[in-house]
Amino acid sequence: MEFFIDTADVNEIAELVETGLVDGVTTNPSLMAKTGQSYQDTLAAICDLVDGPVSAEVTALEPEAMLQEGRHLSKIAENIVVKVPLTWNGLRACKMLRDEAIQVNVTLCFSASQALLAAKAGATYISPFVGRLDDLGQNGMELIRVISEIYGQYKHSLQTKILVASVRSPLHVVEAARLGAQVVTVPAKVLKQMAQHPLTDKGLEAFLKDWAKTGQSIL
Ligand code: G3P
Repeated sequence: MEFFIDTADVNEIAELVETGLVDGVTTNPSLMAKTGQSYQDTLAAICDLVDGPVSAEVTALEPEAMLQEGRHLSKIAENIVVKVPLTWNGLRACKMLRDEAIQVNVTLCFSASQALLAAKAGATYISPFVGRLDDLGQNGMELIRVISEIYGQYKHSLQTKILVASVRSPLHVVEAARLGAQVVTVPAKVLKQMAQHPLTDKGLEAFLKDWAKTGQSIL
């Protein structure tokens, strides 16, 4: 399973890349706006830090304009993946961008039928938003299960990877992995939470207490 970081914060990305746990980055207009920095410069800086795919979203709504923006974004760096929304026009733009061999992440997916269309349009990634479905009292992970089942039926003809987005907790990540999702994009906070367990802290405290009693040091 690949781990992408869901942020546009260059410092945060730089810190996490050092761990070797980061396979890519996803951004969106809201995350970009939060940085207060230039869109182009921020994307270029992120692509310098990360070897893997970096998703950059278009903001146009018409297919031709999305295509123009997508072409422009894809020139920032080789690892840019153009993100388009899962609208009818977004699907048309996806097809056009894929025809030019530009990688596409189709985002804002909330249903299996949308995911099916994105795959047919040649999406490199489909981004179902699990947390936002949970927020509505629906079951985000159930959508991942259904998409995974559908894509699995056509695994020889559909190449689209499931990129689980809007992840709010380590449990979302674990469930996504159990369902075989190829990618999960997580906020830095969730990635760090994944390493935490109170019994680990308690165990370590006891080990160090006992170790101190020996009066020894390893070095
Ligand atoms: O990158 C898109 C997605 O991960 C957004 O997450 O928490 O704003 O629903 P969230």
